[in-house]
Amino acid sequence: MAFIEFRDVCKTYRMGDVEVRAVDGMSFSIERGELVVIVGPSGAGKTTVLNMLGGMDSCSSGTIELDGQLVSGMGERELTQYRRHDIGFVFQFYNLVQNLTALENVELASQICRDPLPAARVLEQVGLAGRADNFPSQLSGGEQQRVAIARALAKNPKLLLCDEPTGALDFRTGKQVLKLLQDSCRVDGRTVAIVTHNLAFTGIADRVIRVREGRAQSIETNECPVDALTVEW
Ligand SMILES: Nc1ncnc2c1ncn2[C@@H]1O[C@H](COP(=O)(O)OP(=O)(O)OP(=O)(O)O)[C@@H](O)[C@H]1O
Ligand SMILES: [Mg+2]
Repeated sequence: MAFIEFRDVCKTYRMGDVEVRAVDGMSFSIERGELVVIVGPSGAGKTTVLNMLGGMDSCSSGTIELDGQLVSGMGERELTQYRRHDIGFVFQFYNLVQNLTALENVELASQICRDPLPAARVLEQVGLAGRADNFPSQLSGGEQQRVAIARALAKNPKLLLCDEPTGALDFRTGKQVLKLLQDSCRVDGRTVAIVTHNLAFTGIADRVIRVREGRAQSIETNECPVDALTVEW
């Protein structure tokens, strides 16, 4: 069995009399240590997939497994533990705590989990050792996103989930962030899933899942993924 198994997953949101089928029978698997890009147009269901993988949202039907755990069968308490210990999240707009320094933001995350990595070391890994005492408002967007990545990585999660992690960044900074995520996979063996609408990102991935209207339109594996710094868009 693969590290992650997403089987026949549906997600329906009900708003009054209207039903929205955000995910409509999606299946895919992801191996441990892979870099996966989930790509598709706006409204395709990408964030919904990521939220279900991360235990932030439940599926309406189907099953979701990670490392032998049936995530789709977990109750609230188990889901809290799962989110806390097994999952790292990176969002488009960083979501740092504004009145904590870069280092404190990273420490905050590592304090809540079982097997954290040293916060200062992870901050160094993302190239921000010299900015540890700066507040988010004193950092550029790219630097703030690197703090957010350090915060997620310091939890030493089984799976790192990134929703449009370069969406708020310019081309050059975006590439550096992408490179950091790719390195975390290549160097540390971390399993990383990146959601994007940017087709240029597909080249860096081991596995590309194309989604459209709530379905996996195609799933391809890349034999020779390219270095993130060479990507053009
Ligand atoms: N909490 C919710 N309640 C109702 N509808 C929702 C909810 N979340 C998502 N949807 C709907 O589900 C569909 C898929 O949304 P989703 O956010 O997963 O798309 P996406 O691929 O991430 O899009 P984008 O690239 O714009 O972020 C959309 O039609 C959206 O309006
Ligand atoms: Mg989205």
